[in-house]
Amino acid sequence: MSVSIDIDHVVKRYGDNTVVKGLSAKILPGEFFTLLGPSGCGKTTLLRMIIGFNSIEEGEIRLNGKRINEVPTDHRNMGMVFQNYAIFPHMSVKDNVAFGLRMRKVPEKEIWPKVEKILQVVKIDHLQNRMPTELSGGQQQRVALARAIVIQPEVLLMDEPLSNLDAKLRVEMRNAIKNIQRQIHITTVYVTHDQEEALAVSDRIAVMNNGVIQQIGTPQHIYKRPANVFVAGFIGLSNFLQAKLARGEKSFDLIFQDGWRLPIHTVRKDSSEEDVIVSVRPEEFDIMPSEQPGIPAIVVSSVFLGIATHYFMKTDKGHDLEVIQYQGEGRHLPDGTAVTLQMKADRINVFHAQSQESMIEGEDDGKKE
Ligand SMILES: Nc1ncnc2c1ncn2[C@@H]1O[C@H](COP(=O)(O)OP(=O)(O)OP(=O)(O)O)[C@@H](O)[C@H]1O
Ligand SMILES: [Mg+2]
Repeated sequence: MSVSIDIDHVVKRYGDNTVVKGLSAKILPGEFFTLLGPSGCGKTTLLRMIIGFNSIEEGEIRLNGKRINEVPTDHRNMGMVFQNYAIFPHMSVKDNVAFGLRMRKVPEKEIWPKVEKILQVVKIDHLQNRMPTELSGGQQQRVALARAIVIQPEVLLMDEPLSNLDAKLRVEMRNAIKNIQRQIHITTVYVTHDQEEALAVSDRIAVMNNGVIQQIGTPQHIYKRPANVFVAGFIGLSNFLQAKLARGEKSFDLIFQDGWRLPIHTVRKDSSEEDVIVSVRPEEFDIMPSEQPGIPAIVVSSVFLGIATHYFMKTDKGHDLEVIQYQGEGRHLPDGTAVTLQMKADRINVFHAQSQESMIEGEDDGKKE
């Protein structure tokens, strides 16, 4: 049975320094929920509040609706996987995994079937008699994961569990973790500062900055409709352009610095004419011949990546832009080629220049999801 976690306006202070600032999130039963944000934004601090290593100064955390602020860690029934694995170097794989069960005084004859089953789930049952020094980084991480889940916790917490692994193993292990989580269906809070990893594993992501949640949503939603300029810049690649929003014939026009007007139908109907920031993903540009309407630019350099070519361009106004052209979308453009850039108007995002919040219809409540 999976549990929900309600994080309700929680605050964490170290002396005068408030590092978690009235943060709220509702994590659903069985969900793979990721906290994503830059170093120092408070991810580990929040995870430690959930498991009970950190006190909660204000607000409440509830498990299935029941307040747990005062419940000590060893009564919370949560498993945690740390960045550095923290497996015992002097114990074999199976003794490492059995440890939590022994601590809970599970009868010895019940321990081994449980350990074996979990070792199969994480696919290291053939290594059960090895010592940690005889394991690769990925295998050690599987031991750490097995050890956290063998006690059948209600909640699984993982703090940057893959950051000690090399790039290839990280991808392999993140897929393994995602599959294992689906299989055992434990409510999981996962911490990373790697946006690609977050997009790959999560049901939903909370993007954090500076102790505050910026947006909560599915990976697709956060990528396509970022709630503010910070999220647009932190997740994936975004080109930012200044423009003015003006009332057009039917809805609104974006007027770019070189005078190009692009009709846009996705901004809120009650928007006012004002300065805006437009964010455009590299794949949201259309590269057109130079005589077309749009933003004039020159190809500075390019990188051929197989499925796509990545162009680095400079506009007439001197702005650097990154543009992706997928294989088969047009001929290769040599350095120095003059082009015009248009945009896929339904997909680009528009933010108030001042508040930096999204102006897209229906995107004003990203924090409350
Ligand atoms: N025990 C502590 N005493 C005082 N300040 C602390 C303590 N632990 C963390 N902090 C501060 O709280 C802020 C948030 O730290 P936290 O470890 O939660 O960040 P993080 O998002 O996990 O970062 P990283 O990605 O680098 O692990 C930081 O500014 C940090 O210096
Ligand atoms: Mg951390």
